[in-house]
Amino acid sequence: MEDKQPLNEIRLFLNDENETASLATQFASLLTATDSATETASSGGHIYLRGDLGAGKTSFARAFLRACGVSGRIKSPSYALLESYKVSNLYFYHLDFYRFSDPREWIDAGFRDILQENAIVLIEWPEQAAGLLPLPDIEISLEYADEGRNARITAYSNKGQSWLSKITPTGPALRPKDPPAGDS
Ligand SMILES: Nc1ncnc2c1ncn2[C@@H]1O[C@H](COP(=O)(O)OP(=O)(O)OP(=O)(O)O)[C@@H](O)[C@H]1O
Ligand SMILES: [Mg+2]
Repeated sequence: MEDKQPLNEIRLFLNDENETASLATQFASLLTATDSATETASSGGHIYLRGDLGAGKTSFARAFLRACGVSGRIKSPSYALLESYKVSNLYFYHLDFYRFSDPREWIDAGFRDILQENAIVLIEWPEQAAGLLPLPDIEISLEYADEGRNARITAYSNKGQSWLSKITPTGPALRPKDPPAGDS
């Protein structure tokens, strides 16, 4: 995933977990929107979530899945590597590659199939499986910034670019944080 060519990128400041959830909810409605021309559900999408431990990757994924209609407990896949859900005719896969070490796990767990289906796939720690993963539609990098998080959201496909263009900074919540005076 080294020589990837981003199509566009936005930066936002997320003050707290609610704002992380609000961003996730916006993406949820974009990825599950019905195509008005064909009346069919979207053809899936891949979102990679990067950032240090505790940066908010699972917070984003939980809020996203909840907004897509997943009910019941949404577990972090940090131990199982994969949690999957189905809501009406849509499949959701939430993966966490933090503990991923052996590429054979990749084949054994059928990850390749998951990425080829018309599913919605969220991947935490994609860098742990670099070389095995295709480019995502969207990559979200979360970074600690004071009490909140800086988010860098990058599109790598036309589909991702179109979603990104519809993300709206809602109120002060999702506006990019001004750099401190004198910080160039
Ligand atoms: N924008 C935000 N500002 C401040 N705190 C946040 C923000 N978004 C989420 N949090 C908090 O940060 C923590 C994020 O934990 P979470 O499990 O989501 O991290 P993670 O990136 O998945 O970590 P891991 O790499 O261990 O899987 C939670 O306590 C959550 O309440
Ligand atoms: Mg996590």
